[in-house]
Amino acid sequence: MKGRDLITLQDFTRDEIKLLIDLAREYKLLSKSNAVPKALKDKSIAMLFALPSTRTRVSFEVAAFRLGALPIYMRPRELQLSRGEDISDTARVLSRYVDAIVARLLKHDQLLELASYSEVPVINALTNLYHPCQALADLMTILEKKGVIKGVKVAYVGDGYNNVCHSLLIACSKMGINISIATPRGYEPDPDIINDAMENAHRSGSKIELHDSPSEAIKDADVIYTDVFISMGREAEKEKRLRDFKGWQVTKGLTKLAKPDFIFMHCLPAHRGEEVAPEVIDDPLHSVVWDQAENRLYTEMAILALLVP
Ligand code: CP
Ligand code: NVA
Repeated sequence: MKGRDLITLQDFTRDEIKLLIDLAREYKLLSKSNAVPKALKDKSIAMLFALPSTRTRVSFEVAAFRLGALPIYMRPRELQLSRGEDISDTARVLSRYVDAIVARLLKHDQLLELASYSEVPVINALTNLYHPCQALADLMTILEKKGVIKGVKVAYVGDGYNNVCHSLLIACSKMGINISIATPRGYEPDPDIINDAMENAHRSGSKIELHDSPSEAIKDADVIYTDVFISMGREAEKEKRLRDFKGWQVTKGLTKLAKPDFIFMHCLPAHRGEEVAPEVIDDPLHSVVWDQAENRLYTEMAILALLVP
């Protein structure tokens, strides 16, 4: 995998995804005993973040540090990008200094442009379309909590045309996880991404269902997953979205339809009282959101270790 970009998990095989998760699990163990080998000693990683981030930014910076690499965090407004330098020129120049570029850009096309001009691997730290690094940590968390991933049923409820939902759909369909997605009408996942997932599912044996009511999706689920109703870049639609998503909160009542040992997942940041009730996300018996967030660190370590040449 050395030298490859990570734009979407669709570009990776089931075995490659499994390798990433296995290495992440190993890094989790090694980290607990401070025994991580410096696999990226003397390497440098540019981290170009056009949008805010808590988990992705910090987990990548710490991951790079643990592996012996130098992370360089940059906001576009501090670069000549803010004065009109092209993304393509920025990519060509950064490639001469660093060994990989981790980038969070709102428009997916901007990330594709960056990747097409970069001579070093580009890792997608979130765009409007995909959040593959999140989905890898999600898979790792499901495996940890459920012991298996194949045959598990994930119910995703809420905004479907969303980076986190799209990457979860790709990840589950590649790995043989069943996924039921419930969204209000007009908020379904991107049709091309559904098609990719359907083709993956055909090969992996996973079942994909699309619903327009949360209870249908959550019935007998092993995992209930939700994300914010208003993603970054959608702030202007706030009022309309809050109206359209009325009745779509993951409540305690809804979770009773899932299997008794269900887990609740959320990529975070969460808005308690909007997409999820406080008693669901803060329920220590079922909510695994803190372990899920922690696992970002180990999956970022695995991504860097396997992709950076
Ligand atoms: N889940 C996630 O990517 O969080 P951040 O926006 O804080 O990085
Ligand atoms: N869908 C959310 C995810 C944040 C990690 C957003 O794009 O804002």
